[in-house]
Amino acid sequence: MFEKKDYVDSYPLIAELKEKVKKDTYRLGYHIMPPTGWLNDPNGLCQLKGVNHLYFQYTPHVATWGIKLWGHYTTKDWITYQALAPFLFPDTKNDQDGVYSGSAFIENEKLYFFYTGNVKYEDKNYNYITDGREQNTLLTISGDGLNHDDKRLVLKNEDYPKDMSQHVRDPKIYKKDGRYYMVLGARTKLDTGCALLYVSDDLLDWKYHMRIETETPFGYMWECPDLFDLDGKTVLICCPQGVNQNGIDFANVYQCGYFEIKLDLQTKSYQLSSFIELDRGFDIYAPQSFEDEKGRRILIAWMGLPDANYLSDANGMNGWQHALTMPRELKINGNKILQQPLVEFEKLRQKEKELSFKDQADIAVSLMYECNLIFDTCNTLQMTLRDDIQLIFKDNLLTLIMGESGCGRTVRSVAISNLYQLQIFMDTSSIEIFINEGIEVFTTRYYSKYSSDISMLGSFEVKGKLYELQGFMIEN
Ligand code: FRU
Repeated sequence: MFEKKDYVDSYPLIAELKEKVKKDTYRLGYHIMPPTGWLNDPNGLCQLKGVNHLYFQYTPHVATWGIKLWGHYTTKDWITYQALAPFLFPDTKNDQDGVYSGSAFIENEKLYFFYTGNVKYEDKNYNYITDGREQNTLLTISGDGLNHDDKRLVLKNEDYPKDMSQHVRDPKIYKKDGRYYMVLGARTKLDTGCALLYVSDDLLDWKYHMRIETETPFGYMWECPDLFDLDGKTVLICCPQGVNQNGIDFANVYQCGYFEIKLDLQTKSYQLSSFIELDRGFDIYAPQSFEDEKGRRILIAWMGLPDANYLSDANGMNGWQHALTMPRELKINGNKILQQPLVEFEKLRQKEKELSFKDQADIAVSLMYECNLIFDTCNTLQMTLRDDIQLIFKDNLLTLIMGESGCGRTVRSVAISNLYQLQIFMDTSSIEIFINEGIEVFTTRYYSKYSSDISMLGSFEVKGKLYELQGFMIEN
């Protein structure tokens, strides 16, 4: 248990950590980070009365895995943020070992927060897979996203199918034809990953509806599922664990991607496409999407991964670790999701420079920039960023090669038939590269001591624009 009172009592410790955090030159300029300590999944993303709420898995006192709260930022314009007190604390017997991931659903101007209450028994030795754990699905309702009513238990271990292990979590709501469906990520006792669907007519009372799984097992656990309709298709995003690397695919320790699903909720039948990775970079996990008041489907992910063997933010030695990705607007193109940085990020643009090059370029840039390139032709390209990071296009393969500044990150690739557009967002210790209008993305952290130039060599003709970017304004 860790109650609000314990948090208030810990202000001196947090103040000490803040001093440490302030000195870190790798703090990001335009990404959401924990004020101190550790951040993982984005949670409860929503927009209510013009205000976007971003909650996140948060351990304020240590910059490593620990007890989980829901940290909180709000923003109206995606540029100016308010850093608020944590929203949820592990303060009841149903969530005493962590308020784990969950989501927000808006109905009649009220916010319904569903999340997993983690409970771990300590009285004897457990394997914590098939025993020793409660994975409670809890609901709490709020009118403003700042205060919430009493937490209610809506599903507990006994309510999950008999063949489930004790790993069932991360509820997200999907409304279809006037009914509410809750999708949960799960691991069966046979160690196969799947998603469970529950149904409700009032958001309070939930009944088991069906499960979604692949024909042959795809990993042992699916975390953070997200089910939504987009441009006439239905998409199931999830994070399968335990998928083997296959050539250039599934290269990270855990996966983050989507199926297109043809889902008939009446007959409980469905058809899944093959699984497509959402992002080909090193630091991407636990994405969550929501529809904003303009009707845009916006996705934000954890710019990090659990159990990765590379270093992030000096493994917390500077008082903090991990960040969220830039928010991305999703669209469908054919059988794939396109991801495009939110248009609001254009407000970060400062000095603008026109670019035009053939076969060779050397561009001086600031530490935080956006570089947009449109290729008239591109047969081959070797691009070097901050002296140490290479992006290579050759033989229909785009490859990101990290040098020493990758701190253990090595090579990631994606097959593309041609390269006609690149949009590169460089922050002090992160890069997001949107390829061909966002049909592929590389998201990665890096820690470079080197200068901030871009050099390009190869056989290409390119035009574009370079912008210095300013950082977010964060109000406490
Ligand atoms: C994914 C995850 C979720 C869980 C949360 C705990 O990164 O493991 O499945 O709810 O993190 O912080």
